[in-house]
Amino acid sequence: MADKVQTLLLFGATGDLSHRMLLPSLYGLHADGLLPDGLKIVGTARSELDDEGFRQSALEALKEHVPSDFYDEAKAAEFAKRLSYVTLDASVPDHFDELSKRIDCSQGLAIFLSTAPSLFEPIIDGLERVGLTCDNVRLALEKPLGSDLESSREINDAVAKAFPENRTFRIDHYLGKETVQNLLALRFANSMFEPLWNSAHIDHVQITVAETVGLEGRAGYYDGAGAMRDMVQNHMLQLLALVAMEPPTDFDATAIRDEKVKVLRSLRKIGASDVGNHVVTGQYGAGASDGQPAKGYLEELGKPSTTETFVALKAHVDNWRWAGVPFYLRTGKRMPTRKTEIYIQFKCVPFNIFSARGAKTSPNKLVISIQPDEDIRLMMMAKTPGLDRDGVRLREMPLDVGMANAFADHRRRIAYERLLLDLIEGNPTLFVRRDEVEAQWTWVDGIRAAWEEAGLAPRTYSAGSWGPSAAIALTERDGVSWHD
Ligand code: BG6
Repeated sequence: MADKVQTLLLFGATGDLSHRMLLPSLYGLHADGLLPDGLKIVGTARSELDDEGFRQSALEALKEHVPSDFYDEAKAAEFAKRLSYVTLDASVPDHFDELSKRIDCSQGLAIFLSTAPSLFEPIIDGLERVGLTCDNVRLALEKPLGSDLESSREINDAVAKAFPENRTFRIDHYLGKETVQNLLALRFANSMFEPLWNSAHIDHVQITVAETVGLEGRAGYYDGAGAMRDMVQNHMLQLLALVAMEPPTDFDATAIRDEKVKVLRSLRKIGASDVGNHVVTGQYGAGASDGQPAKGYLEELGKPSTTETFVALKAHVDNWRWAGVPFYLRTGKRMPTRKTEIYIQFKCVPFNIFSARGAKTSPNKLVISIQPDEDIRLMMMAKTPGLDRDGVRLREMPLDVGMANAFADHRRRIAYERLLLDLIEGNPTLFVRRDEVEAQWTWVDGIRAAWEEAGLAPRTYSAGSWGPSAAIALTERDGVSWHD
């Protein structure tokens, strides 16, 4: 692992992500004694603030966003001493001179860009001009990294002029989630799943990322992106890669990312002739959310749009392990409930010895709930107690591990805590490598081109439902039901 840096520079330090996630995460790490003693955190943004003004706004953000049972006034005040601020407009070269006077990068510097991607290039140029891109500086980037392969390459090329790949940390915050990392432990720290983890034993996989929220005032970004680019291209494909990857030789950045990228490159292209029966898109209309009436997307947006707020698709990983196993992916806004879940359905037993005694068997299922509940449930068949005079009765029973209870003495951390700490310590394992991003875009661009060619338009679904009925038909055609 590389050396720990002594300075963290946050671009976009007064923004929403910083207030809701980054500052609370840094506070959490500080409160747990995990930040290097001398670590200084320098915030920059266009707002005219001095150090004290930034500290005050950070403290207000902490009060609002850190759970009250973890917020400690004295620790927050101590944390605030690490903070300072430089007003910076990326289009004003002089501002970078001022910044460089305030930063000592000789002890290592980590830079986090939480800004619009259009600012990445001017920021990197500005940093380079004032000598803030040298060998002991690493750079973290928040999505969206482009809107297709071409624009993502432009961003990555601009970054690569100053930061080689080993100093570029691309964030997919799903990789910072404890339960997502636990997928690796489940698969590779247990001997019982791996022999079954293939097309001989697994019937299909479902990955659902359902949200109850709607546009959340993010029209400017979201309407130009849509669910496919906002969720499938990154978070969902990373989940799929972790489920489908071969065992890495080691728990290190190269080995893990090498295996993930192989999966991403094995995704079967979905062309215009397949898109109609492999992909369903939707856009929420009026309905209800969390028991309250909810407006439709177009009404929230205030203008016509064909942006999809829901995607369901059937993917295939074309390799030896997964030949013939469908991966059904589904994500949407304004769904009935918030849940991120991986559902693995095993094949039925080859022969039911109980059928003559009237008992049916269901296939085993492994349900990995990522959020809001953190659970691993293995659905097994068990005999209903009794003397079986009228026949044998079997019932599906869960073997259940509620992670929150099993690890009740562990604080549930924000995903960014892990990612920020790894950035500070220079461990890129949970960051996305350029070849992964490009493989993700290649697949997604192919689908988007196919749906344009085939004239696929989003179907309206009621807010608070599980998406258009065509999404149900997508799986039912294969005799599969979504796990709701
Ligand atoms: C972001 C998307 O990357 O992930 C948002 O831009 C989405 O649209 C969010 O709401 C979901 O993250 P989480 O951690 O709440 O599941």
